[in-house]
Amino acid sequence: MQFRHFPILALASLVAAQDSGNDTQSLNATLAGNDQLSNLTNFLSQYPSLLSALSQASEITILAPSNDAFTEFADTDTGRTISNNSDLLSALLQYHVLNGTYQASQVTNQSAFIHTLLTDETYTNVTDGQVVEAVQVGNDTVFYSGLLQNSTVTTADQNFTGGTVHIIDRVLTLPPSILEAALALNLTSLYGAVNLTDSVEAASKRNITVFAPNNEAFNSIGSALANLSSDDLQSILEYHIVENVYYSTDLANGTTLQTEDDDRDLTITTNENGTVFVNAAEVVVPNILIANGVLHIIDNVLNPSNTAAPSASATAGAPGFTGSAVSEQPFTSGQPTPTTQVNPTSEGAGPAQSTAAGSESSGLAAPRCTGGVEYAALVGAGAAAMVWGF
Ligand SMILES: *[C@@H]1O[C@H](CO)[C@@H](O)[C@H](O)[C@H]1NC(C)=O
Ligand SMILES: *[C@@H]1O[C@H](CO)[C@@H](O)[C@H](O)[C@H]1NC(C)=O
Ligand SMILES: *[C@@H]1O[C@H](CO)[C@@H](O)[C@H](O)[C@H]1NC(C)=O
Ligand SMILES: *[C@@H]1O[C@H](CO)[C@@H](O)[C@H](O)[C@H]1NC(C)=O
Ligand SMILES: *[C@@H]1O[C@H](CO)[C@@H](O)[C@H](O)[C@H]1NC(C)=O
Ligand SMILES: *[C@@H]1O[C@H](CO)[C@@H](O)[C@H](O)[C@H]1NC(C)=O
Ligand SMILES: *[C@@H]1O[C@H](CO)[C@@H](O)[C@H](O)[C@H]1NC(C)=O
Ligand SMILES: *[C@@H]1O[C@H](CO)[C@@H](O)[C@H](O)[C@H]1NC(C)=O
Ligand SMILES: *[C@@H]1O[C@H](CO)[C@@H](O)[C@H](O)[C@H]1NC(C)=O
Ligand SMILES: *[C@@H]1O[C@H](CO)[C@@H](O)[C@H](O)[C@H]1NC(C)=O
Ligand SMILES: *[C@@H]1O[C@H](CO)[C@@H](O)[C@H](O)[C@H]1NC(C)=O
Ligand SMILES: *[C@@H]1O[C@H](CO)[C@@H](O)[C@H](O)[C@H]1NC(C)=O
Repeated sequence: MQFRHFPILALASLVAAQDSGNDTQSLNATLAGNDQLSNLTNFLSQYPSLLSALSQASEITILAPSNDAFTEFADTDTGRTISNNSDLLSALLQYHVLNGTYQASQVTNQSAFIHTLLTDETYTNVTDGQVVEAVQVGNDTVFYSGLLQNSTVTTADQNFTGGTVHIIDRVLTLPPSILEAALALNLTSLYGAVNLTDSVEAASKRNITVFAPNNEAFNSIGSALANLSSDDLQSILEYHIVENVYYSTDLANGTTLQTEDDDRDLTITTNENGTVFVNAAEVVVPNILIANGVLHIIDNVLNPSNTAAPSASATAGAPGFTGSAVSEQPFTSGQPTPTTQVNPTSEGAGPAQSTAAGSESSGLAAPRCTGGVEYAALVGAGAAAMVWGF
């Protein structure tokens, strides 16, 4: 098996002159020093060029799945088939390497979105690399990946010459396409509407943010939706797709976002409780990573002809359409039903909401910069990666 796509060249660009008096150990020694990493060590030893590239890189953070994580992963659909798919395996490994050295103490209770080395367009269309969400939950350092899966750090800050290693208790999940995410999250009306109106292309572009109405949102105005022409429905759907990637930390009060299609605007409003609204709809589950950006679940369908802001006292979203509920869930007829179920409302399944709306602090302290890497170069991309705000 070849790591044809492993970014050895990309990694080579990270190689910096080491400090002459380095007192840290090689990656080999760091990995070998942890008995929870014997599976990973065995695995990497089968790929000497990969191990060598990682060993020579600098300013990286490796999220290293523990033996327990490997065992759990081996029993999943992806785990059972991945050894036959070297491209996928390579992409998954790249997703476990963060571009920058991030000690666990730099992860705070405000989410940060950190770029990984996964840039292969077969698997991601997020410029500068797909991200993971890093956040402290209680005393734990948690990384959220695709489909809101969480990986918790069990042993942090295992330094090596090129950066640091955190042992995690679950293999990361690659963020899937919007349609796969919609199915897994039971956003079946959205799935059907996107499929039936040919909005798949708009929803598959590079670097997008999708505001995804949940099933209740579609159902509650089902009578109004039933009367729409396909063109009108498509126009409404594409009003939910925004150019560029805006994680929750970018959704500051008063921000206007331009939709991808014809530059219609959406307006973000936040209230004292930290609740985020887009026009009058509430963001109920933020930050679901998808292959080409991010998806935020909202509680109402947005109406380009009704851009009212939420009322000052709103505790939930308000409908943008006048309509009533229907008995059959809109746009689900003849569409596939969810297979794997991820319930975004179950306790603990969603990332912690940012609470400190309006404060100036960032979600992550600046990455530690060692060796010969230019600080400006590192923080330049890092700053874009990390999303300041709130
Ligand atoms: C720095 O660490 C690397 C990897 O362990 C080692 O090969 C190198 O000799 C070390 N350099 C010094 C000056 O100790
Ligand atoms: C790391 O280990 C691999 C195999 O386990 C070995 O081939 C390689 O030479 C080692 N690298 C260093 C720098 O010790
Ligand atoms: C992980 O390592 C354990 C022993 O440490 C071994 O029994 C197990 O088969 C390994 N699992 C995988 C998936 O390699
Ligand atoms: C990324 O975009 C390219 C070109 O548009 C496309 O071929 C590829 O399928 C996209 N990848 C993903 C994961 O959506
Ligand atoms: C992707 O997004 C970044 C910032 O979010 C932006 O700088 C870049 O131009 C975008 N790329 C494309 C191809 O739209
Ligand atoms: C976090 O750690 C502190 C000190 O070890 C402990 O007192 C506290 O109960 C822990 N909090 C949680 C939520 O586990
Ligand atoms: C790793 O390096 C960081 C920053 O230099 C340091 O704070 C941390 O204690 C080191 N970790 C270990 C386990 O030595
Ligand atoms: C799109 O909808 C049609 C029915 O109109 C269905 O046959 C097809 O499987 C759907 N496509 C996907 C990708 O689910
Ligand atoms: C999925 O959505 C449908 C329609 O709203 C609902 O009846 C069903 O209970 C949901 N399934 C799950 C697992 O939440
Ligand atoms: C958000 O902006 C609106 C309109 O300017 C303002 O009324 C509201 O108080 C602001 N919310 C916060 C949390 O500052
Ligand atoms: C992590 O996911 C598990 C389900 O797999 C869930 O029970 C747990 O609450 C989640 N933890 C966090 C911090 O999100
Ligand atoms: C890592 O980030 C640096 C800038 O901080 C950037 O120049 C480099 O291309 C990135 N590497 C990869 C593999 O994405």
